[in-house]
Amino acid sequence: MSLETKDVRKAFGGVVALDGATVKFREGQVNALIGPNGSGKTTFFNCVTGMIRADSGQITYAGQDITRKAPHAIARAGVGRTFQLCRVFPRMSALDNVLAAVRPGGLLGGLRGARHRAEVDRARGWLTRLGIEHLIDVEARNMSWGQQKLLELAGVLMGEPATVLLDEPAGGVNPALLDRIGTLVRELNAEGRTFVIVEHNMDLVMSISDHIVVFDRGRPIAEGPPSLIRTDERVLGAYLGV
Ligand SMILES: Nc1ncnc2c1ncn2[C@@H]1O[C@H](COP(=O)(O)OP(=O)(O)O)[C@@H](O)[C@H]1O
Ligand SMILES: [Mg+2]
Repeated sequence: MSLETKDVRKAFGGVVALDGATVKFREGQVNALIGPNGSGKTTFFNCVTGMIRADSGQITYAGQDITRKAPHAIARAGVGRTFQLCRVFPRMSALDNVLAAVRPGGLLGGLRGARHRAEVDRARGWLTRLGIEHLIDVEARNMSWGQQKLLELAGVLMGEPATVLLDEPAGGVNPALLDRIGTLVRELNAEGRTFVIVEHNMDLVMSISDHIVVFDRGRPIAEGPPSLIRTDERVLGAYLGV
């Protein structure tokens, strides 16, 4: 079930966001994708999830070519993601947000009776797991930024993805929540989920990752376990400009 890209290129006008990105993220691992701002990390997620189309190159997931697949097909294949700028419905409750994540547009009309109750139970389960069950009836706009990020993640997990892509999960959240996110990722990974995490908080990245890929200018410049990446001169160079 590894996620692999081969020579993926994506340009926006004259800006080359991905410049021949060849990457392999292994099944069952917590993978991190790090690199300076503008190095193409979010564009990589957008291409992998079908939200934008790569100009060239190939993307495979679990041995299946997903290069030209639509976002819903890639989600169905088992890849879920969160967004750097957190996507929730501000005027909907936490419960409705999580339900909407798996039944877009079909909130009230979709399921009835026992099946609806089962979905509500599952949604409640994820909210509890993420520690925000007390906010179940609260509208997303009345939650803190960190709580909204957990809510978004609960929605993603409702889809039971085998692989979860997180775009800066720790960005703008307080230190206590940071710890919770780290613990959660390790727990969910122990249950069999694969992660790819874009994150700037190096303490978090180094403490939870099995494998790290470092991007610079749209392609990987280094990869390996935290112990190796920590001292890699190319990585220090890309970050510090030395
Ligand atoms: N939709 C877009 N239109 C134009 N340029 C874009 C778009 N998305 C990203 N870029 C550019 O592509 C480069 C990579 O961006 P991005 O993938 O967001 O980097 P990162 O997530 O690593 O910070 C940047 O120069 C950015 O300005
Ligand atoms: Mg980004």
